[in-house]
Amino acid sequence: MFMQENSWIPLFPEQASSFAAQVDYLYFYILAVSIFFGVGCAIAIFYFAVKYREREEFGKGADIHGSIGLELTWTIIPFVIAMTMFIAGAYVFYNLYRPPTDAMEIYVVGKQWMWKFQHGSGQREINDLHVPVGRKIKLTMTTEDVIHDVFIPAFRTKADVVPGRYTTLWFEPTKPGKYHLFCAEYCGLNHSGMGGYVYVMEQRDFDNWLSGTVSGQTPVEAGKELFETKLGCTSCHQANNQGRGPTLTGLFGKDQKLTTGQTVPFNDEYIRNSILNPQGQIVEGYQPIMPTFKGQVTEEQLVSLVAYIKSLSGNTSGGSQTGGAAGTTTGGATGASSTTVNTPNGTTNLTNTVNPRRADRGESGNTQGSNPNAPENRSEPTSRER
Ligand code: CUA
Repeated sequence: MFMQENSWIPLFPEQASSFAAQVDYLYFYILAVSIFFGVGCAIAIFYFAVKYREREEFGKGADIHGSIGLELTWTIIPFVIAMTMFIAGAYVFYNLYRPPTDAMEIYVVGKQWMWKFQHGSGQREINDLHVPVGRKIKLTMTTEDVIHDVFIPAFRTKADVVPGRYTTLWFEPTKPGKYHLFCAEYCGLNHSGMGGYVYVMEQRDFDNWLSGTVSGQTPVEAGKELFETKLGCTSCHQANNQGRGPTLTGLFGKDQKLTTGQTVPFNDEYIRNSILNPQGQIVEGYQPIMPTFKGQVTEEQLVSLVAYIKSLSGNTSGGSQTGGAAGTTTGGATGASSTTVNTPNGTTNLTNTVNPRRADRGESGNTQGSNPNAPENRSEPTSRER
């Protein structure tokens, strides 16, 4: 695309995504129009102030009875200018906030004060995010505590991360490199430190990176285990509509009819709501007997359950794991997130030798008890109150 390099604009981050140039063009267009009229008005004020200054005391101005032509001119021209901004803005907005269906999906959970990422192939990262260049990436995001906001200036995109629901963000990186990632919503003491980097890599390097990191369970595998074993969902949600709950196969993306006669889309949000608040939307033909799982599943487990139920409809999202590089030593060379481990033996036995939950354990010590703002700590007296 045009205008990939824009170091000629001081103070501006690089343009590193497919819509960075669009956002910048719109921004500079609005800026140019504002400057033109701002400066024009200032000059006109000066000019008329001098030209029509008071020349005689108690002078009387000329009577003016309006001018249709003049009024039409100053109505139509600004209207056209404002509409160009609106149309261009709507165009860019649609691009930014409608994720394509063929995007590679990554799950994001924000919490005070870190970002947790999980790839479709199971890799977890904290505060670092590795993605391949030239691929469409979709982030499905939520938070464990307060509102955060993912902001990647080089990609010219950001979106709030809201407790109790999923939001999405997508981008297509166009240039390999290392780009800042920020939290752009004030979220407590260490808000300013809640950030990291997005590493955009060539596909080959990305594949190497994938094979050099601990993948553990994929979200789908973890969700399957929760669904079948840990939470025992299968005791009701059996195959072929034999159970007390509906069979969940093949439903994703379709419409779901409820007892109220309402129809709702069977999507990420619906699955999430049905786990946390099952009484809210009962499927037609079924009894409201499902207990809530609120408080029993973490946001990350919810994400896994959603991924698993999605996969029952043949909806697999994931990174490309093209094998590659057995006995690789590249792991950790690029980013060294806390879950990165060198694997001299290649990819065999990874899931057996490394506990996939170590990432969870490692980070839990980070905020618990040290953060007076965290919701789970609010009821306990802080050291100051004692
Ligand atoms: Cu998270 Cu600010």
